[in-house]
Amino acid sequence: MQIKELLKLTPSEQEVTVKGWVRTKRGQVAVTFIAINDGSTIHNIQAVAEGGAIDEETLKLVSTGACVAVTGKLIASMGSGQAVELKAEKIVIYGTADESFPMQPKKHSLEFLREKAHLRFRTNTFGAIFRIRHTLAFAVHKYFNDNGFFNLHTPIITASDAEGAGEMFHVTNFDMEKPPKGDDGNIDYSQDFFGRKTSLTVSGQLEGELGALALSKIYTFGPTFRAENSNTTRHLAEFWMIEPEVAFYELEDNMNLAEDFVQYVIKYALENCADDLTFLEKRLLEEEKSKPQNERSDLSLTEKLKFVVENQFQRLTYTEAIEILVRSKPHKEKKFQYNVAWGIDLQSEHERYLVEKHFKKPVILTNYPKDIKAFYMKLDEDNKTVRAMDVLFPGIGEIIGGSQREDDYEKLLARTKEVGIDPENIWWYLETRKFGSAPHAGFGLGFERLVLFVTGMTNIRDVIPFPRTPKSAEF
Ligand code: 4AD
Ligand code: MG
Repeated sequence: MQIKELLKLTPSEQEVTVKGWVRTKRGQVAVTFIAINDGSTIHNIQAVAEGGAIDEETLKLVSTGACVAVTGKLIASMGSGQAVELKAEKIVIYGTADESFPMQPKKHSLEFLREKAHLRFRTNTFGAIFRIRHTLAFAVHKYFNDNGFFNLHTPIITASDAEGAGEMFHVTNFDMEKPPKGDDGNIDYSQDFFGRKTSLTVSGQLEGELGALALSKIYTFGPTFRAENSNTTRHLAEFWMIEPEVAFYELEDNMNLAEDFVQYVIKYALENCADDLTFLEKRLLEEEKSKPQNERSDLSLTEKLKFVVENQFQRLTYTEAIEILVRSKPHKEKKFQYNVAWGIDLQSEHERYLVEKHFKKPVILTNYPKDIKAFYMKLDEDNKTVRAMDVLFPGIGEIIGGSQREDDYEKLLARTKEVGIDPENIWWYLETRKFGSAPHAGFGLGFERLVLFVTGMTNIRDVIPFPRTPKSAEF
């Protein structure tokens, strides 16, 4: 029986068997206390082996990290800290672990645990993170299913660069030592597996739009890949993105959806992950103690989550945001590293100022200059800005990027050429604007950035089981 279920039982000396990994063993010959965890919950069950009940040879093999099955009677616990415990009558050792097992019960740095990603699941912190990650993923599907969206599986291998940023990993089955070349000396991709140059996708959006222009409401939830060399605490080379796309939605509907959706999934975690969040909240408090007073957060983790769930996001245009930044103290005192002027791509220091200092709540910025956004965004009447929206979160920065899409064939074609995309390559995308085009909008939520926010962790490498970052793809 899972420990999570077992801990809910009323003890009446019923016989149960628990299977899991030993977290700690303490005590002497007379009585030994064994804390066992099976990952179903942050809580351990305590097995008590009284003198003679378990033979000494077996008991010796019960050590931190070992995998065991303990059978015995469930009784009310004498000790504080748990309601029930297991009076051990039989222990089967599945796998031993000696003192070299790295997850000994002491404080390990997150850096150390990253190097032991194959075993870090067996710590309280990572158990909590990955249970919450699961719950959030489940809440994503539940939200969209309950609201009439269809989950669309868009391709992972693609021949188009949706974001036009060119940061793609190539997919080929050529012998890299001697790829076939054409008469012009260039690699001849027509001989490659797909008969063209292909890559791992950076976004499922373009194909998602094709689905939305028939099914009306779709969402994708898949892996995306970016070969950008950003070694930050917010970037991964492989991450998971959720991309809803809705026919007949305009920018404002899109903002409403983003806000409602994000609030729903965070609320779902608050309601369903209370134990894990309580644990992570304490962890964060401990971590913050080592920071100077002015860098500590005023709110605890759950207070921060509740605040986001209960308060409306601040909505303003890019142009209004620039005005605020230009009038701001750090700008006047030249404290920003990057200069502020209309047309710039906002840097994370600017986003953080708006969210953390100025508004002190999540912000949705809209109507960015067209030159800093992707080709598919709908042009505003001024021909200068597009119907883009970025949702910015405290401590995270951009968590969502989205827009209303250009639905006018001629305008889209012109933008495609302007940014240097060959219309031939996305003829199928353009064609949806020829046949029954419709206003539509959508966005992408970076799943790991959401998990970062909800768990209160600070490095994105700690919220995905096996992070892929520049120069790192172990495990
Ligand atoms: O803003 P982005 O690039 O938008 C798109 O890809 C659109 N096609 C989405 C759409 O409209 N359907 O990425 C969306 C989100 C970002 O806001 C961020 O949260 C996350 O994806 N993201 C990353 N997360 C981790 N590592 C990276 N390297 C990321 N790049 C983007
Ligand atoms: Mg973006």
